[in-house]
Amino acid sequence: MLLHRLEEQLHRREQQDRLITPASPQRTAHMADFGSNDTLSFSSSGVLRTAFLHELRRHPHFTLGSRSTRIFEGTTQYLTDLEEHLARVHGAESALFFNAGFDANVALWSTVPQPGDVVLYDQYVHASIHEGMRRGRAETRMFPHNDEAGLQQCLLNLRETHPGVADGQQTVFIALESVYSMDADSPPLHRIIQLAHEILPRGNAVLSIDEAHSNGLLGPNGSGYVCNLGLEKEFPIRLHTCGKGLGATGGVILTSKTIRSYIINYAKNVIFSTGPAFPVLAAVKAGYDLLASEEGETRRTQLQKNIAYFQNKLTGHPQWSTVKQSGVLSIPTEGTWAPESFHAPIIPLTTREGDANNLAHRLHQANYWVNPVHYPLVPEGKERVRLVLHADNTEAQIDDILRVMMEWSMERVNTTRMADTRWPQVACSV
Ligand SMILES: Cc1ncc(COP(=O)(O)O)c(C=O)c1O
Repeated sequence: MLLHRLEEQLHRREQQDRLITPASPQRTAHMADFGSNDTLSFSSSGVLRTAFLHELRRHPHFTLGSRSTRIFEGTTQYLTDLEEHLARVHGAESALFFNAGFDANVALWSTVPQPGDVVLYDQYVHASIHEGMRRGRAETRMFPHNDEAGLQQCLLNLRETHPGVADGQQTVFIALESVYSMDADSPPLHRIIQLAHEILPRGNAVLSIDEAHSNGLLGPNGSGYVCNLGLEKEFPIRLHTCGKGLGATGGVILTSKTIRSYIINYAKNVIFSTGPAFPVLAAVKAGYDLLASEEGETRRTQLQKNIAYFQNKLTGHPQWSTVKQSGVLSIPTEGTWAPESFHAPIIPLTTREGDANNLAHRLHQANYWVNPVHYPLVPEGKERVRLVLHADNTEAQIDDILRVMMEWSMERVNTTRMADTRWPQVACSV
């Protein structure tokens, strides 16, 4: 009976063209990577492997497993040293490392906000933040994505309706991301800081930021978005992940010693879970050493060059405005491309409903790996192909993927035009 019910639900997903079937390694192995989060190509190029092997040679007598939860023997000297290193790199008082960014968010949001506190979160924050909040004890409220006015209104409402917020006794957490993982846009940090100070002058707003998609990509030695702006003091809670730009795995919370100790004492997924094993930690250390090296700097620069190359080629394409106007394909972040100095490597290719799989399939046939993304990973009606640029993508590959993308788009445009001229009366009579 259970299997029957599960199969029914899977079948429904399949019919809606949104069944998740992870790509087989054989399929992706020979394709150019325009899909993964390994944006500096640390992992795929092998540079991280070399740095990792070097790190292993420096510690030939390592103990592989942590042997215990980190509240017992699981906090090894190597882990302690790594956390101190990460705190220094990111300009924080302390750091707490996790096997995954997802775990870090769950630990943070399920424990730190207290009963009576409020978490105000951007509409598009990551599922792991939702999961943490769901397990937590504070009230949660959403504000519209990257919307200063919406956030301002929420803060004013809270001050009105929650006496504890107005008198500074209850904390309002504001949960943001530096680069949103599906839309690739960034919040107006200076304005948000200003609003928090103005509306809650007693200092009971706590800003937090998840830097999963900016870690390694900008700032001194790749230390991230907040460090690049010199806003470390404004963000008492920051979370970086190590599985994207860094090419390894893991997540780290950068915060005060008090919050760190609180999480260790109260987060179930810290207390009741085995601490990180040495190879994970060594890969992260190797990744951070690479970020701080000339190789890291060269790759950051190359990635930005590739992004600019993609953007210029696309916006300069003679048919791009036709494609956009037809609604066949658009990129919501295009309007922000020109004036900004740092660009996120994620390009959300927004298609019409039902088209994302088709475009992805065409790109796969041409040997370019990209990921189609559907509800519930993105809101309903916002399906897309998530194209991600990498340091090791070549200009020839970028030219060619754009050619395939534009060919597909123009076929769609022409089909739409033909349908419009053949049956104009259908549209009129409805
Ligand atoms: C914003 C954000 N936070 C957290 C995570 C989870 O990180 P990890 O993949 O290390 O579990 C991700 C990964 O998709 C993410 O995009």
